[in-house]
Amino acid sequence: MDNPDLKPDTLAAQALGWIDEKTRAISPPIHASTTFIRDPDNQYRSGRGYMRADNPAFDQVEALLARLEGGAQAALFASGMAAATAVFQALAPGDHVLAPKVMYWSLRNWLVSFATRWGLQVELVDMTDPAAVRAALRPGKTALVWIETPANPLWSITDIAATAALAHTAGARVAVDSTVATPVLTQPLALGADLVMHAATKYLNGHSDLLAGVLVTRSDDDFWKRVKTVRAQLGGTLGSFESWLLLRGMRTLYLRVRCASASAQRIAEHFAHHRHVEAVLYPGLRDAPGHEVAARQMRGGFGGMLSLRVKGGEAAAIATAAHVALWKRATSLGGTESLVEHRASVEGAGTPAPPDLLRLSVGIEDADDLIADLGQALARAHG
Ligand SMILES: Cc1ncc(COP(=O)(O)O)c(C=O)c1O
Repeated sequence: MDNPDLKPDTLAAQALGWIDEKTRAISPPIHASTTFIRDPDNQYRSGRGYMRADNPAFDQVEALLARLEGGAQAALFASGMAAATAVFQALAPGDHVLAPKVMYWSLRNWLVSFATRWGLQVELVDMTDPAAVRAALRPGKTALVWIETPANPLWSITDIAATAALAHTAGARVAVDSTVATPVLTQPLALGADLVMHAATKYLNGHSDLLAGVLVTRSDDDFWKRVKTVRAQLGGTLGSFESWLLLRGMRTLYLRVRCASASAQRIAEHFAHHRHVEAVLYPGLRDAPGHEVAARQMRGGFGGMLSLRVKGGEAAAIATAAHVALWKRATSLGGTESLVEHRASVEGAGTPAPPDLLRLSVGIEDADDLIADLGQALARAHG
């Protein structure tokens, strides 16, 4: 599918149109071999030696992801965390990095514990405020600015283009956790980012049955080579079957994300002025902080994630979650089924999630069914 005019929906639906040359199969074979033959003259002309470094099962998935993100190359990892931490471990101890105050909780914990002990100077900033970013950047010293947008669990929006411009002026790279936006709604590389990261566990796979991560780079530079070396040496490499499942899931990525986004918008608007709801946090709402930036940098929707602040505080929020029938009480996001969770319970002390907050991951069920179920749960919790 070399035609540059083909739409991303088409590229994803046909997984770049590749077929297996030997069998003419449309779905690729699953390569299970951990090791590859060396040529008699002691060379590895196939380019492959051992599966921890690389795997033929990655080729099609990585090529598709690089194309959808408009990058030079992609690399698959065993989880979103393995992908994200590989970026930080490709830096050098002593490097200064900026990360958002509001971001995926486990990565934030890793940054302030392990990464700090390992020697990175991690500074958490309000990434939604370009003035705060400008003030925190140390030209020549800041090596990386990490962005997550929309960011867990408040769905705060960071202006990727403005932040990248500031970071580049200071000589820093920019990486964007685009898990929630997906390539369907946002193109961070086109907005100036150097790297894009996804927890492919979420929307890219889309079926809550696989743990995977991916990085996509704007250019195949020395930093990218270090990232690939981290993967090969630390072994956070994806398995063959998981790669195959991910490619299968991605064939429906565009359908799923558009559906979840449209339903999330309807759900947000429905509950925005509900008598049992204090506030709805969703960048698609006109009065949401960051709405204007989101409308500029997201195309075709604002994503499938939103949060409700339930009137009556923590007890009412937990009671609402207890009374849902259709929504599933579970962590994670981006699957076909809608999920609800009391986020402060997951994140614990120091969380930016207020105690009355329920995090919602909207799936691809009928939006009216989801609204009705949440409505009856709120009514029963306030009964
Ligand atoms: C925004 C975001 N980034 C990264 C991750 C980590 O991904 P994984 O669970 O695949 O390690 C998650 C997981 O919830 C996430 O929501």
